[in-house]
This record gives sequence, C-alpha cells and structure tokens, in this order.
Amino acid sequence: MRIRWGDVAAGAAAALCLAGCQREAREIGPSLPQTAPRGSADPRIGYYQDNVYQVSQGGRYFAWYGCAACHRDGAPGVRDLADGRWRYGGGFDQVYASVAHRHGAFRYAARVPVEPLWQLTAYTRDLSRHTPEKRRRLSVEQVGEPQGRSWSGPVR
Ligand code: HEC
Repeated sequence: MRIRWGDVAAGAAAALCLAGCQREAREIGPSLPQTAPRGSADPRIGYYQDNVYQVSQGGRYFAWYGCAACHRDGAPGVRDLADGRWRYGGGFDQVYASVAHRHGAFRYAARVPVEPLWQLTAYTRDLSRHTPEKRRRLSVEQVGEPQGRSWSGPVR
C-alpha cells in the first residue's frame, strides 16, 4: 500500500488538535458538581483546575462577585491571593473551603452555586501563575463584559 503523506499529515494534525483542545473541553449535564470537593484527590478537581475555560469562567465570577474589592493585585497579607502562600492551605479543597466559609456575612457557600465555587477556586489557585501580560489581558476582557452596575459600556 502506498503511504499518502497528505493523509498522514492530516491525521497527525487532527490528533494534535484533539490533544490540544482537551484543555478547553466543556461539558454540560448531570456531571456538573453538586457538592464541594471531597479531599485533595477528588477526581473532579483536574477537570476544573487544568481546563482554561473553567479557570477563565472563575475569573469572570471573581469580578462579578466583587472578590477584587478586597483581593485586588498587591493586596496586603492574607488578602494577596497571587503570592503562592496560603494561610489556610493551597489544596483545592482547602481554597474552596476558604472561599465558601471564611467570609463571614458574605456567606458565599449559601449564595454562590456549587459550580461557580469550583470555578472561582480554580481561578484563585491559578492567580500565582499569571504573568503581568495575562493579568492585563484578562482585565481588558472583563472590562468589555457587562459587570452589573460597574459596567461602563463596550471597550473602545
Ligand atoms: C470584604 C473583603 C473580602 C471579599 C469581598 C472577599 N474576601 Fe476573601 N478574604 C478576605 C479576608 C479578610 C480573608 C482572610 C480571612 C481570615 O483570615 O479568616 C480572606 C481569605 C480568603 C482566602 C484564603 C486565603 C489564604 O491565604 O488561605 C481565599 C482563597 C479568598 N479569600 C478568596 C476570595 C474569593 C474567591 C472571593 C470572592 C468570591 C473573596 N475572597 C471575597 C476578604 C475578602
């Protein structure tokens, strides 16, 4: 059989794309989390932490829920979520618990649905890996989105 290099190249490109696209795969349906993570080895964690779509959704919620009011860039001490140091632990389940239960009257566990809490956690844990350029791009993107009362219209 003659090998057709065009087909081989197309196959390789498709395989590469499938592998590359995995990071952005989205799912809808009953697999959405209904409960908080069970320990640091919960098998659902990878789907959120390693998926750029889920992490960026978390970034949106971070802006929408007003987390940046206290946890802005360069916030002091425990409020700095980008320094890679965690007072209450940096494991996925620990950060989730901090977001959900450590904010007194904000009661995020009661007010924020479970999936956005997973996404917020993934984003918060991702913050220490953001380059200044990525931060700038994210904030430009978020300014361009409706943000409730703080939205000032599309970016020009
Ligand atoms: C009104 C100010 C305020 C807002 C709004 C706020 N936080 Fe916090 N956050 C704090 C303070 C203060 C602490 C430290 C609490 C403590 O020491 O018990 C904290 C702690 C944390 C921690 C634990 C940090 C560590 O070092 O272990 C995480 C994670 C966190 N917040 C994420 C969030 C997210 C995500 C949001 C938005 C959904 C949010 N916070 C909104 C003030 C705020």
